[in-house]
Amino acid sequence: MAFEDLKKEVNLIISKTQLSAKNRLTEICEALRTSIPYYNWVGFYFANHETQTLHLETYVGTPTDHIIIPFGRGICGQVAVSNENFVVPDVTSQDNYIACGLDVKSEIVIPLFKDGKNIGQIDIDSDSLDPFTKEDEIFLAWVNEQVVTIL
Ligand code: SME
Repeated sequence: MAFEDLKKEVNLIISKTQLSAKNRLTEICEALRTSIPYYNWVGFYFANHETQTLHLETYVGTPTDHIIIPFGRGICGQVAVSNENFVVPDVTSQDNYIACGLDVKSEIVIPLFKDGKNIGQIDIDSDSLDPFTKEDEIFLAWVNEQVVTIL
């Protein structure tokens, strides 16, 4: 599915005010994973700035042990500190990386900003090597902009 069609689906999910924010986030994860063949694990981590940790809010894909990630650790933890997109075409090239599954070959993490503050991130693992383009970054930043409206 093209990103433009997927945007419509995301907007529809965001507008389901009868569902909790968490349930809507889970539906967004499902929609993304179902629509984009190289999105194999899709989840949202939320930041706790007091404890300097990321907490897995919801996800779809293979269950992970990494429910809590300290700021600075792994790709996710680095984005909590840098406030910048992190695209990893090949996870084997990263020293500061937390492996979530043997099939994972690449990862993209896009920070989630509310009122200018980095409050979390969308994290996507792919079983494909080097699948992410600038289009994914732009699309996922757009998804995060919609998500903050319900947080
Ligand atoms: N690979 C991530 C950990 C989270 S899992 O991808 C679900 C990282 O290095 O931060």
